[in-house]
Amino acid sequence: MSAKTVHIKSFGCQMNKLDTALMASALTKAEFALTDSVKEADVVLINTCSVREHAEQRVLSHLGHLKHIKKSRPDMVVGVIGCMAQRLGDKLLEHEAVNIVCGPTQIPQIADLLKQAFEKNEKRLAVTEKILQKTTENQNQTLERFESAYGIEDKKIPSQAYVRAMRGCNNFCAYCIVPYVRGPEVCRAPEAIIEQIKRLASQGIKQVTLLGQTVNSYKYKKGERTYCLADLLDAASDIEGIEWLKFVTSYPSDEFFDEILQVMADAPKVCNYLHLPAQSGSDKILHAMNRHYSAAWYLELLAKARTTVPSIAIAGDFIVGFPGETEDDFNKTVELLKKARYRNSFIFKYSPRPGTTADKRLQDTVPANVKQKRIAELLAAQEKISDQLSRDFLGKEVKVLVEGLSKKSHSNIGDSGDNPQLVGRTATDYIVVFNGQVSLAGQFAKVKITRTSPLTLFGELI
Ligand code: 5AD
Ligand code: SF4
Repeated sequence: MSAKTVHIKSFGCQMNKLDTALMASALTKAEFALTDSVKEADVVLINTCSVREHAEQRVLSHLGHLKHIKKSRPDMVVGVIGCMAQRLGDKLLEHEAVNIVCGPTQIPQIADLLKQAFEKNEKRLAVTEKILQKTTENQNQTLERFESAYGIEDKKIPSQAYVRAMRGCNNFCAYCIVPYVRGPEVCRAPEAIIEQIKRLASQGIKQVTLLGQTVNSYKYKKGERTYCLADLLDAASDIEGIEWLKFVTSYPSDEFFDEILQVMADAPKVCNYLHLPAQSGSDKILHAMNRHYSAAWYLELLAKARTTVPSIAIAGDFIVGFPGETEDDFNKTVELLKKARYRNSFIFKYSPRPGTTADKRLQDTVPANVKQKRIAELLAAQEKISDQLSRDFLGKEVKVLVEGLSKKSHSNIGDSGDNPQLVGRTATDYIVVFNGQVSLAGQFAKVKITRTSPLTLFGELI
């Protein structure tokens, strides 16, 4: 019998993409064959995100599409993986198209679940029953074995890899579903992380991004010593072959903040990029969100970052239309965004998530049209700043790690013969588009910037 073919679709954040990559790697080892075509696949796996309702709706509409395909292909096995699987559990299993529901913690079982689905033709549910409880040592060991067993280089972007520093989150921001679907914080042992990075480096990986929901709070106690993210970055810096180290996402907190900034300033491989979501600029809303800082304190943190690392690029996240957000609260957010001078902000409309404290205790009071107006205003304010910051690069040379062919085709960039448009990123996460040979993918290149837009720099290879 030839190998069963699997098509995997990913709907979520970087953590979710890492899970997808691990799953793909595990399935290949278990003698499944990956395919890009849904039509030809024996198995379709959808790795899902629950952070906003919109992401879940996209998955449901995709399942509707698969239900249709299954009319002519009744043997096709469909699995819903990840956060939405954990959140909805058996309700999802009732969906006509769905055969397997598998939470983030159960991903190591995926090959077995698929084999059982083929042998027994039964629906299978694998989620954590008491997600808010601390994971057992046994579960942690299983996850760790799985995590470190597979190569997780990003197949689509050569030379880059994600490495998990920690899972879960203990913060319980009032709006956020993450603690309810990924469970409490668990930090991986530093030696496991460093070993993994060494292995990736030996396979040609040049850039590693350490991942965690609040990666700056990484801590691991061993004997007398507590290791923090700065220790990981420092140790990873010594690994030959690794040239750039990044980490996402950080929570505004002064625990370890000085150490992390210092390693950024001192270790040339640690990229000067910080993603530090503020979420709001109103102290009243920050309090209601259960974020443990004020707007003024947050801005002081940014000032400190800029003093220690003058060339740092900072990115933010905001939620507009949180319950109780008045025009005055929103104006404070605009004010904070302007003062922060982010290179980029990810801005979202508040979306109530079932089970979170905001959803249980607060009414979604801000009307949809007001949320829309606020998001547009905040995006416009950010665009202006991004545009100014981008313009500073005109005429300058930047170093990029080339990702590959540019997906979008951009007009009007420097003529460079027959070479296609490539895309790369700088250490500070600027997207750079230029013409060059495809064989540059995965290599570092120098580009002279000749034109800019708010989020993209355009230029010529030097
Ligand atoms: N509604 C809207 N945005 C949300 N985020 C998290 N939860 C919600 C929600 N319920 C945003 C936050 C977070 C980012 C990953 O998603 O800004 O930083
Ligand atoms: Fe969610 Fe807050 Fe944890 Fe981020 S820090 S994952 S927003 S609970």
